[in-house]
Amino acid sequence: MIMGRGLVNRLLALFVALVALALPCAAQAEDGYQLWLRYAPLQGEALARLEAFDPHVQFASDVNNDVISGTAFQELRRGLKSLLGHPLSKSGNGGSIVLVCAYAPPEEGAQFKVFARSARQIEISAAGSNGCLYGAFALLRALSLGADLTKIDLDEHPAMPLRMLDNWDDPNGYVLRGYSGRSIYDWWKLPGHLDPRLIDYARANASIGINGVVVNSVNASPLFLTDRYIPKLKRVADAWRPYGIRLYITARFSAPKDVGGLPTADPLDPAVQAWWKARTDALYAAIPDFGGFLVKANSEGEPGPQDYHRTHAEGANTLARAVGKRGVVIWRAFVYSAEDKTDRAKQAYNEFVPLDGKFDANVILQVKNGPIDFQPREPFHPLFGAMPHTRLMFEGQITKEYLGQATHLVYLAPLWKEVLDARTGPDGTVAQVIAPTGMAGVANTGSDRDWSGSHFNQANWYAFGRLAWDPNLSSEQIAREWAAQTFSRDPAFLTKVVPMMIESRQAVVDYMTPLGLAHQMATGHHYGPGPWICDLARPEWNPCYYARADKAGIGVDRTASGSNALAQYAPSVAAQWTDPKATDEAYLLWFHHVPWDFRTQSGRPLWDQLVQRYDRGVANVDAMARTWASLQPYVDPERFADTADYLRIQSQEARWWRDASLAYWQSVNGLPLPAGTRPPEHSLDYYKALAFPEAPGN
Ligand code: GCU
Repeated sequence: MIMGRGLVNRLLALFVALVALALPCAAQAEDGYQLWLRYAPLQGEALARLEAFDPHVQFASDVNNDVISGTAFQELRRGLKSLLGHPLSKSGNGGSIVLVCAYAPPEEGAQFKVFARSARQIEISAAGSNGCLYGAFALLRALSLGADLTKIDLDEHPAMPLRMLDNWDDPNGYVLRGYSGRSIYDWWKLPGHLDPRLIDYARANASIGINGVVVNSVNASPLFLTDRYIPKLKRVADAWRPYGIRLYITARFSAPKDVGGLPTADPLDPAVQAWWKARTDALYAAIPDFGGFLVKANSEGEPGPQDYHRTHAEGANTLARAVGKRGVVIWRAFVYSAEDKTDRAKQAYNEFVPLDGKFDANVILQVKNGPIDFQPREPFHPLFGAMPHTRLMFEGQITKEYLGQATHLVYLAPLWKEVLDARTGPDGTVAQVIAPTGMAGVANTGSDRDWSGSHFNQANWYAFGRLAWDPNLSSEQIAREWAAQTFSRDPAFLTKVVPMMIESRQAVVDYMTPLGLAHQMATGHHYGPGPWICDLARPEWNPCYYARADKAGIGVDRTASGSNALAQYAPSVAAQWTDPKATDEAYLLWFHHVPWDFRTQSGRPLWDQLVQRYDRGVANVDAMARTWASLQPYVDPERFADTADYLRIQSQEARWWRDASLAYWQSVNGLPLPAGTRPPEHSLDYYKALAFPEAPGN
């Protein structure tokens, strides 16, 4: 067939037009894998400035350029190239970014300075190569947010030495309380094959200052202490070393019996002590910078020293002596028992305060942010401030087990800030108590392409690292940084998305557990409402245990007339929560059982105020969905649609939470809804009958 020139030209033009149409979409396709490290090309003035500087990266001569500073070098080149939108020029005549990294052992030397020596030279200097790496990421972050290179003046040091993530991953790939796919660790293929994703994981962690990762679940498999696992762990540790990340494992307390062939795991038995020493030596022989052990003992059925009538301190010290100066033993304070009939909120304090001063120097006690269990809101854990002779570390949960998991948008920085900023007494805050030690976050990472189960859940991973680096950062600043790097730098986008993120936390509190209620999630999956559940053998596994609702009122009396959990706080702290009339409504039902007609500070009776709060929560989620809809022009289609879907789910489920809860409270108090209030959509029986066998966590 012969075509005329006109037809060829028209076909060509059509082809070019089609390609032009397709290209922007292809270029914009985003699946969230790159997290906040997208380094989207700069535009306008910011781009012109960087172009004019024409950066190249170099080491100062005669200084340390070990493997970590090598990572800093590579990251700078990679990030700058991406921000410029083209490779760095080869001429070497442009401006220079000079790395001046001294040598320091891991966990030291993390402080850095980034400043302009001249209009043509930026220096990143640090007391250690990890400081250079953090300085490199800080410089890229600043550039990504539009900073002028020649005006940069950063001088930072981490607020605490241990900034860790705890993975709750099992050897078979299951992630306990994980909502983002399977485990990122393929222990079957290791050590022969290392998934490159584990390097991307280390890179993302290093970019926010994380320097330690526990690779397996707190409900620990003893396999990790066997010879077969040591080469697997070594392969991962070797891959993470260039990013300044130390590897830790959880240790199952009964391992000497489970995999060691001993008849006992009694921590005072010399053979048991020798076993731990030999295992630990084997780990250090393979991984010289192995971080140490995390232990969940005598908690929720896990084995521990009390099985042998030994104390937590005796158990922890046995492992700590095996580790010695090489690392730490992080012992969890999350304990409550079936036999102990005292208020669950009091049990960890009762158990651990008498042991203050009895732990070896390399033992750290890891305390959850609140006394129950990662709820949408809890007062700070009373152990903070109550164990002056013990090293305490903060444990938060990034994976949102009780906050709507993957599909509800809840930004957690305000939750953690509330606890970190809380005063433990006249002398200081929770952040100050943990400053000599650190923070650990239960990770929300998994095999999902977006890592965290939703795009906005990535913000919580980011925020956790940033707060461990500097708890004085505001939730707004962190949200702004994250959103600008993750989605769009457009001020019109940021001025809407940041307030939406900030308000999301109070919204979930309102529609799930308003006014200081807690743990109303159905037992097992912890996703939807189950306030009526009251028939499980262990009282504290029933939501009814945490609301104590009856005809007369609702809430848990934790004052002197009740469990007196209040007395576990310093008097100056307890004083603010003693009188229900003066208690901040955020904690009202946490500390007080009050009648349904109790006059709240709003002037409304409690029942009306409770209904108002559920309604406010639903309204705020609807507002979040509207805000997001208005942001479509700033977000790529994939991530926009994913988030819009999830917000629709959240809107429906906020209603489910409200309606199911109100239907149940009405069945208890017999009260009509305040005038003008929408009745629950379904009967209480309908909500009770809902079942979710496929929910994660069941
Ligand atoms: C929560 C969670 C458990 C977990 C426990 C822990 O209770 O539901 O799955 O094991 O926390 O922190 O150990």
